[in-house]
Amino acid sequence: MDISIKRRDFLKTATAAGVTALVGDKLGALGQLQAQTKTAVKPVVISSANGLMATAKAMEMIQQGADALDAVIAGVNIVEDDPNDNSVGYAGLPNEEGVVELDSSVMHGPSCRGGAVASIRSIKNPSKVAKMVMDRSDHILIVGEGALKFAKAHGFQEENLLTESSREIWLKWKENLSTEDDWLPPHDIESKDIGEGLKSYLRNHGTINCDAIDLKGNISGVTTTSGLAFKIPGRVGDSPILGAGLYVDNEVGAAGSTGRGEANLLSCSSVMIVEYMRQGKSPEQACLMACERIASHTKERRLLNDQGWPKFNVNFYAISKKGEYGGAAIWSGSRYAINTGEKQSRLIDCAYLFKSEPKPKK
Ligand code: GLY
Repeated sequence: MDISIKRRDFLKTATAAGVTALVGDKLGALGQLQAQTKTAVKPVVISSANGLMATAKAMEMIQQGADALDAVIAGVNIVEDDPNDNSVGYAGLPNEEGVVELDSSVMHGPSCRGGAVASIRSIKNPSKVAKMVMDRSDHILIVGEGALKFAKAHGFQEENLLTESSREIWLKWKENLSTEDDWLPPHDIESKDIGEGLKSYLRNHGTINCDAIDLKGNISGVTTTSGLAFKIPGRVGDSPILGAGLYVDNEVGAAGSTGRGEANLLSCSSVMIVEYMRQGKSPEQACLMACERIASHTKERRLLNDQGWPKFNVNFYAISKKGEYGGAAIWSGSRYAINTGEKQSRLIDCAYLFKSEPKPKK
């Protein structure tokens, strides 16, 4: 095949469609133009609200010239290592048998690669293992025992991830089991009074998603979590599923999620948010549209309140190639962390579909 003709034809088509940025920097003058555009972009780091320190760390590294993926992984490692955060990494709340199982995914925009692990036990930084899957295997997602073996082969140390505090929270849940577990009796979509564990304050879906644009204008992201507390062993949420809990397109932007992974798995919202941004929506509009999709596609009565709105929450965070950022959630009250070059990150309210009732004072 004549490569030069193919390239000329592609250029014509790409220019006509207004998508020259897709061509990449292999194309001489066009590539240089694109590179100039890239360096003009200010770096941005966004994360879920538990990422104030993560976003600050990632920005500090980016300003020293780090690649966005290395920076966001170093950022979320702070939360994975934190014994006081029960939703991610070390000290994450365990499955229903008291065993911590972690999920994580990474995507590297400039090289269009990704990696993920799910249900990995005994390794406190699943985000680093996810990157190892990307860098040192021909796979994208490795789960369970295989993920642990892969991590150990690469020198990761096994350790007990269950802290005294997370064990005590798990034990309290176990001692109060009634309808608050995930084993549902036979039911249909009209069944209302089952699966009540959904509303327990202890059943968190805490997670951290962190996405960044670096000094070269390259975009990457990571999502890492201990998943739904007290889940059925082997349960995998949205975090390690590329397209659901995380998606990056280096020419468009990045998006990620926290919240009820089961709902997000049914809509693969992160890739949808990136596609909405490609069509011209702002990050916040795109995140809200993903929330609307989840709300309109939730049909099971047990998951809906009396007004027909979802009883659960899902949060989305997104950045665009232009450096815009935004977040949205199904319910009001969620926030996200942002850093655009400051020493300290700040929290911003997410846009939302429904206003939550004020929480009763304790
Ligand atoms: N969004 C995290 C989870 O559901 O596991």
